Amino acid sequence: MSARAPGAAAALLAAAATCVAAPPALTPKPQADYMLNCQGCHLPDGTGAAGKVPSLRTSLAPLLQSEAGRRYLVQVPGAAQSALSDAELAQVLNWMVRTLSARPPPQFREFTPQEVMRYRATPLVAVRAARVRLLGTAP
Ligand code: HEC
Repeated sequence: MSARAPGAAAALLAAAATCVAAPPALTPKPQADYMLNCQGCHLPDGTGAAGKVPSLRTSLAPLLQSEAGRRYLVQVPGAAQSALSDAELAQVLNWMVRTLSARPPPQFREFTPQEVMRYRATPLVAVRAARVRLLGTAP
């Protein structure tokens, strides 16, 4: 047996172990959906663009305080009219609340596909007026 064989085998094993130990990191599905459908306007960290796209970092938590606010979160055109299914939109909203809120609400009741389906059925036409009513300011 050649003296080099054990060394080569060990090197091969080490290389194989490295491959197994480092699988590619997959982006979680709700985050990937956010990246593809929402992030273009809302930006990766949810800050948006002042005067055009509101910052989700500060608006999600207060809006979650009322049923009218929850409804608004689902009914805004960017959410309700996206290509996402009700289940996907529910997951994206839940991900946004937890990840993008500057201060995530301590007691957050998750959106369910059923709740999203119910609110999505009614389009929100007067978006600015609804936001002013709920938060006191336009986007
Ligand atoms: C074309 C730009 C655009 C895209 C894409 C977009 N949004 Fe928005 N979003 C806005 C604007 C502008 C507002 C402010 C309300 C309005 O005028 O519609 C808003 C408001 C919101 C709000 C309410 C927060 C607030 O402070 O008023 C939520 C929740 C939201 N978007 C979720 C989403 C989700 C979820 C997606 C992706 C599925 C998405 N948006 C995609 C532009 C966009």
